[in-house]
Amino acid sequence: VNVREPSVVGDAIEDFKRASHPITNPKSVTEAFHVQEYLAGAQGRSWGGAKYFGTKLLKLPSDLWLYQEVVTEIKPSLIIETGTFSGGSALYFAHLLDQLSHGRVITIDLQEIQPSYPRHHRIEYWTGMSSTSDIIAKNARLDAEIEGGPVMVVLDSLHTMEHVLAELDIYAPLVSGGSYLVVEDTNVGPNDAVFPEHGPGPGDALRAWLPSHPDFRVDEARSGKFAYSYHTWVRRRRT
Ligand SMILES: C[S@@+](CC[C@H](N)C(=O)[O-])C[C@H]1O[C@@H](n2cnc3c(N)ncnc32)[C@H](O)[C@@H]1O
Repeated sequence: VNVREPSVVGDAIEDFKRASHPITNPKSVTEAFHVQEYLAGAQGRSWGGAKYFGTKLLKLPSDLWLYQEVVTEIKPSLIIETGTFSGGSALYFAHLLDQLSHGRVITIDLQEIQPSYPRHHRIEYWTGMSSTSDIIAKNARLDAEIEGGPVMVVLDSLHTMEHVLAELDIYAPLVSGGSYLVVEDTNVGPNDAVFPEHGPGPGDALRAWLPSHPDFRVDEARSGKFAYSYHTWVRRRRT
């Protein structure tokens, strides 16, 4: 099987390698470590070298551990992930759900499905279309509506502020009361810890969006449990 890097990600990684990544006055040892550890990704270490059962996934191990804790607590019937990349994160979620003997994963990507994507009976690949396209949004809404149990959402596709704002409007309403909306890579961008050249990113989107959505609150304890997380773990209030 010819394992091909999706080109959108390939381009993003090339941009990332070209960027200068100055450590501009880290506020703490934790932040300085975060920056150094993040930069290691460009050399194929840390999140840039992680594999799950042989498939690449762009995740920090401590964030995978947080996912394990959240999924075990929430026991979602449906996990909707935007941003498939190589399918490693979808497989990870599917294996967590296997341990709970329930649930499925819908993973959405602009890139067409690849023969190398892991196959698992809990995973549905919705590929070849943007996560913000009308048809994907409509089908995601339908699937979430008919779901009998908790729905959890993971936003990990294009990390521009504009795109994440559009995804928040589509996918946040699908999160069940008490469940999680994980906005990934809120650490990137000029106003966050790493990769200032990236431009306004997921953190900016979330800060703009949260004040008008009071039923969602950031779970600070979760994000800080292992010193830092790349993501913001947002919990929806129970209804
Ligand atoms: C950060 S990667 C996903 C990483 C994956 N979740 C993991 O943990 O390994 C981002 C993915 O988003 C996809 N993408 C970019 N723009 C998109 C869009 N508008 N809609 C859906 N997917 C998009 C890219 O093709 C890429 O595979």
